[in-house]
Amino acid sequence: MSRRFKVAILGATGPVGQRFLQLLENHPWFETSTLTGSGQSAGRSYRDAAGWLLETPLPESAANRVVRETRPGAVDADFVFSALDSNVAGPIEEEFARAGFPVISNAAPHRTDPDVPLLLADVNPGHVALIAEQQRRRGYSTGYLVTNPNCSTAGLVTALKPLDDAFGVEAVSVVTMQAASGAGYPGVPSIDLLDNVIPFIANEEEKLEIEPGKILGRVQADAIEPARLAISAQVNRVPVVDGHLESVSLKLRAKANAADVAQALAEYVSEPQLAALPSAPERPVIVRSERDRPQTRLDRMAAGGMAVVVGRIRSCPILDFRFTLLVHNTIRGAAGASILNAEWLVKKGLLRTREEIRAESGKTPAVLSGSH
Ligand SMILES: NC(=O)c1ccc[n+]([C@@H]2O[C@H](COP(=O)([O-])OP(=O)(O)OC[C@H]3O[C@@H](n4cnc5c(N)ncnc54)[C@H](OP(=O)(O)O)[C@@H]3O)[C@@H](O)[C@H]2O)c1
Repeated sequence: MSRRFKVAILGATGPVGQRFLQLLENHPWFETSTLTGSGQSAGRSYRDAAGWLLETPLPESAANRVVRETRPGAVDADFVFSALDSNVAGPIEEEFARAGFPVISNAAPHRTDPDVPLLLADVNPGHVALIAEQQRRRGYSTGYLVTNPNCSTAGLVTALKPLDDAFGVEAVSVVTMQAASGAGYPGVPSIDLLDNVIPFIANEEEKLEIEPGKILGRVQADAIEPARLAISAQVNRVPVVDGHLESVSLKLRAKANAADVAQALAEYVSEPQLAALPSAPERPVIVRSERDRPQTRLDRMAAGGMAVVVGRIRSCPILDFRFTLLVHNTIRGAAGASILNAEWLVKKGLLRTREEIRAESGKTPAVLSGSH
C-alpha cells in the first residue's frame, strides 16, 4: 500500500499514548501527525510533558513536537487514536467524530453504546458493520467511533473466541493478576503496591463480565445481540509493570478433551491474519506446554505483545477446563489492538485519507461507501 495516513494520538502523554507512539514509529501505513494532552501538557514539548516510560528510546521525531490541545481544530489528521483518560474521553471523542474524524478509542465510555463496535479485529471483525448505522443515527458524516475492550477483557475474549466457535462457551470464572501500568500514570502509589497485592480495581470486574458478551455477540440489523455466557470475575492489582495474568475456568456446551481445547486455541486465525495486516500476530493465541508458563516477565512480549499466551490447560473439577493466560495490557490490551483495528478498517474501505474524501466530494461520503 503506497498511501499514508496522518494520525493524531489524543492523550498521547500517558502509558497507552506512549505505546501508540512507539508502535507507530516505522508503521508502514500510519504516521503520527499530532500529539495531544490536557491543558497541563498543551504547549509544552512532548519530551517535557510526557515523562517517557518505555524501554525503547523516545522517538526523536516526537521529542520536540509541541503537544496540542485536545480539540478538533488543533488536529491535522485523517483519523485519531484515543488514549484519553476514560473520565474525560466520552464527550471529547464525540466532538471529534462529529467534526468528521474516525475515532479509534481505548477508553471505556462508548464501549457499551449499542451502535459502537467493541472491536478486536481478529476476534469480531464483522462488527464494523455497525458503523454505517451509527453514522446514520448520530448524523455523523465521515466521522465515527470504534472502541477496543478493557485490557483484561482483550486477553480473556481472545482465548474464549476459538473455544466458543468450536464448542460453545457457557460459563467462565476468571481471576486476574493485573499490572501497575493498567492504572495509567502515576497510577497506584508505589507504597501501596510494592510488597503487596490489592484485591480491588474500580469497575474492572463489571467490564470483564459485560464486554465479552458484546464482543462474542452477533450483528443483528443495527445492534449486537450479546452472546449468552455467564462470567464471574475477580481482579487483583499486583506489583509487575506490564502484563495481566488471568486464571480461567470454563464450562463448554459441547464435549471436548484438553487436547481439543489446546488445538482449537493454537490453530485459531481470523481475517487480519488472512489479510496479513501489518500488526496482526501470526496466531492470536500461542499455546505453551511447559507446566509453569505463561509467566508475566517471560511471555508478555510474545509476537511483539500482540499474542495472548495460554498454558496449563487441564480439566477442572467444578467446571470443564481451566488454564492460565497472559495478555500485554498496553499492547494487545490497548494501543496494539487499536492499531490492528485501524488496519482492518483500512482494509474494509472504512478509513480513507482526507484527500481521498475531498477528491470524492459530491459523491457519497467516502466512509459510507466502503464495503462493510
Ligand atoms: N493502561 C492500560 O493498560 C489500558 C488498557 C486498556 C485501555 N486503557 C484505557 O486507555 C486510556 C489511556 O490509558 P492510560 O493508562 O494511558 O491513561 P492516563 O495515564 O490516565 O493518560 C490519559 C491521557 O489523557 C490525557 N488527559 C487527561 N485529562 C484530559 C483532558 N481533560 N483533556 C485532554 N486530555 C486529557 C492525559 O494528558 P496529560 O498528561 O496532559 O494529563 C494523558 O495523555 C484510558 O481510557 C484507559 O482506561 C488503558
